[in-house]
Amino acid sequence: MKTVPSNVAPDFVPSGLTTTQAPFIEEAQAKGELYIYQPYELYSDANHEAWRQLYARMAPRWQQYANEHFMKGIGSLCLNPERVPKLEEVNQFLCPLTGFSAKPVSGYVPAYLFFDCLRNREFPTTITIRDAAKLDYLPEPDIFHDIAGHVPMHTDKAFADTLVRFGDCAHTAAEIVLGIKDRDEQVRRLTSIIKAMARFFWFTIEFGLMKDSAGKGLKVYGSGLLSSYGEIAHCIESPDVQRYPIQLEWVINQYFEIDHYQPLLFVVDSFDHLFSLVDELEKWMLDGRLNNVSPGEPGVSEADLESFLARG
Ligand SMILES: [Fe+2]
Repeated sequence: MKTVPSNVAPDFVPSGLTTTQAPFIEEAQAKGELYIYQPYELYSDANHEAWRQLYARMAPRWQQYANEHFMKGIGSLCLNPERVPKLEEVNQFLCPLTGFSAKPVSGYVPAYLFFDCLRNREFPTTITIRDAAKLDYLPEPDIFHDIAGHVPMHTDKAFADTLVRFGDCAHTAAEIVLGIKDRDEQVRRLTSIIKAMARFFWFTIEFGLMKDSAGKGLKVYGSGLLSSYGEIAHCIESPDVQRYPIQLEWVINQYFEIDHYQPLLFVVDSFDHLFSLVDELEKWMLDGRLNNVSPGEPGVSEADLESFLARG
């Protein structure tokens, strides 16, 4: 027997926490609630089955393609391969390691709020899970992407510190643009800076590759790859993927598309290397070098812009 949380209307009928089909999430969004809790009892058997299948087929691929920090992290989190994880339990293992925690959200988190959460060692985490009938492609994040793809990386101190540093960059960006008096110029520059930050995040945190510890082969550390059964192998094995040493000037000017396997990926030497790149990103921001990056994807929404400007 499933129970309905006390703050949910009595006529509410639980029907699982499936991506784009979860009344609990729709209600939270309708009420403007971004930060929510995880009503664990609402997960249906089909939701747990989706998690079980996703985990079972990824596990051997992680062994083959994931970087060593991820493998250590997934062990530290003690995830249950059979059941959707409880965020509270994940956090009990995660927090003592790096201070990070998974923070449940109802949907898209506007850019500044997202980066500010990272700065506070909180990771906005989706609680819904994809439909078991469509395990492969999902344009929006789900709990498998967030908990199995991202959170194991947050157990690594150097990686966690890099995310916090990235959050610092958002603060720096806000301070820069809030000092600009002309509204049009403010929006123009902020759009460019957010675009540059989003591209950097995409080509590192979401789709990054890293040299292996022997310095010869490549391993995956990007969460979009770590949570994709097909692309985790494709990104390493396919001759159709271009893999280049990361260059900041390239990454911030490189557009990307989200609806197919990535044709171009960038390689870092280590997480210390990645951290130094985030430092450099902030310096470039302060020097005005992010003010006019190449146009194109990703788009920057009103909500993203407003999330920065609301700080003023
Ligand atoms: Fe992600």
